Amino acid sequence: MSAWYEDTFGRDYLSLYPHRNDEEARRDVSHILQLIDPPRNESLLDLCCGAGRHLAALRHAGFMNLTGLDLSADLLAEARSRLDAESMNDIQLLQADMREIPGNELYRTIVSLFTSFGYFEDGNEDERVLQSAYQALSRNGTFLLDTLNRGHVLANLIPSEERELEGRRISIHRNITADSLRVEKETRITQPGSPETTYRESVRMYKKAEIEDMLTRIGFIDIHFYGSLEGQVFSNTSSRMVFVAAKARS
Ligand SMILES: C[S@@+](CC[C@H](N)C(=O)[O-])C[C@H]1O[C@@H](n2cnc3c(N)ncnc32)[C@H](O)[C@@H]1O
Repeated sequence: MSAWYEDTFGRDYLSLYPHRNDEEARRDVSHILQLIDPPRNESLLDLCCGAGRHLAALRHAGFMNLTGLDLSADLLAEARSRLDAESMNDIQLLQADMREIPGNELYRTIVSLFTSFGYFEDGNEDERVLQSAYQALSRNGTFLLDTLNRGHVLANLIPSEERELEGRRISIHRNITADSLRVEKETRITQPGSPETTYRESVRMYKKAEIEDMLTRIGFIDIHFYGSLEGQVFSNTSSRMVFVAAKARS
């Protein structure tokens, strides 16, 4: 049986979330520039780049050496065609698992945006993602990751939602697992004349201290947490959990 993240991120995924668009990506990138100001002429990896919206925004912001990595062949195909359409043919796209970023000490900056962490059933596998980022970063490189804030999810969970989208009925159900570690989401799409499709998501919500422990164990230094990409102070109620961490110079 395949893992949920191998099935969920296909073409339907893009059509379900039209608001996760270029405009939002441009805003995210402008906040990232204020938060970490990565050197525009050095390499940057968008880890779990999806359909490439942040890569395009980064190029518009002047980044010349960009790579995207994702597992989904569908999303990478979408990324390739949208980037090529904007003459961004030089942006490299890699199909790989986030736990095994190819190459050593390649990237000056790695970003992982919009909840692409906490996907694995075994927490050690999530830690492998951070290890893999550490290994792929150049000395003195910076890693930024933006994910769910557990406190915010627990306080604001919407258990079910129904909407119509382009002739399709979308039913969403969310729950917190009994051990209260993960948020799970089931999205059911029904459309007259088509078979029903269901997609599942299951994301581990780490506490700040747990992430801090993992990053420190791996060797990251200068670890800072924020409550959003805008750089708000992190608290239990922050809308997001964002961290910035560095690989030591030597
Ligand atoms: C929530 S989406 C975010 C995509 C993108 N960062 C954005 O903001 O549009 C998560 C992404 O992680 C990718 N993904 C899921 N599991 C992965 C894995 N094991 N290795 C690499 N990418 C993975 C999915 O294909 C999807 O593109």
